[in-house]
Amino acid sequence: MTAEPLSANWPIGVFDSGVGGLSILSALQTQLPDETFLYLADSAFAPYGERDEEFVLQRSLAALHILNEQHPIKALVIACNTATALAIHVLRQQHPDLPIFGVEPAVKPAAAQSRTQRVGVIATAGTLGSQKFADLLSGLGTDTKVITQACDGLAEAIEQQWQQPHNPAVRGLCETYLGRMGRFGSGPGELDTLVLGCTHYPFAKKELLAVTGPHVQLFETGAPVARRVQQILLERQLLSQGTVGKLSLMATGETQNLQQAAKHWLSMQTQVLSV
Ligand code: DGL
Repeated sequence: MTAEPLSANWPIGVFDSGVGGLSILSALQTQLPDETFLYLADSAFAPYGERDEEFVLQRSLAALHILNEQHPIKALVIACNTATALAIHVLRQQHPDLPIFGVEPAVKPAAAQSRTQRVGVIATAGTLGSQKFADLLSGLGTDTKVITQACDGLAEAIEQQWQQPHNPAVRGLCETYLGRMGRFGSGPGELDTLVLGCTHYPFAKKELLAVTGPHVQLFETGAPVARRVQQILLERQLLSQGTVGKLSLMATGETQNLQQAAKHWLSMQTQVLSV
């Protein structure tokens, strides 16, 4: 990594195992329209969610390296709950001067909102099994019951979703996993909030709400993370000045999912570079 001081004109790097991080990128672009973003989908090594800690750590280090090779970056957003849970502490240790932001399941705001005091959290096995998630739960300090469910295969199904709108695989997995968590609704003992603890899941909102019913409140993390990035870049005088925001999309493996997902979900017609 470069020893040069960070420059406000450099881009912000963003990565995920695949298309899920677009849900975070979209919030970042809304909050920071003048910034340039480099987005990397580590598609050759996706999914991360059912891999071990060492694998996710090595891929996260590689992702930062690949982004920096394209152009030095002034900040990194790990747009992946699994990589945040398993790797952010090492990335921060190794790159102490680079502002590094992660995402974590929005359990606290969901617990504060829940009237039935029953919060559901869906995420990958890697996120839910991590020490970071255990610490998040033990720091909650509330009587609210948190019901967690790992959704193996759901991120992968969402990754392919653009190929077949209303993909029955996504709907089927949502039914199976949510069905294991208990009853959703606003009555006593029912789950009235659902935390989307994987950045892919906002792209299955329709399918999730079809199972929970429309009144269950879904929690995601894009907007709060984007506000935090803005605040820290402002404090460090790293916000870009008077430039027009640009976007580069890259993928380590196949590029079609990202290309189509960006077009389908974010109306972006950007060509994906294979890296
Ligand atoms: N989007 C990632 C997350 O937020 C994980 C998806 C995967 O690769 O399993 O956890």
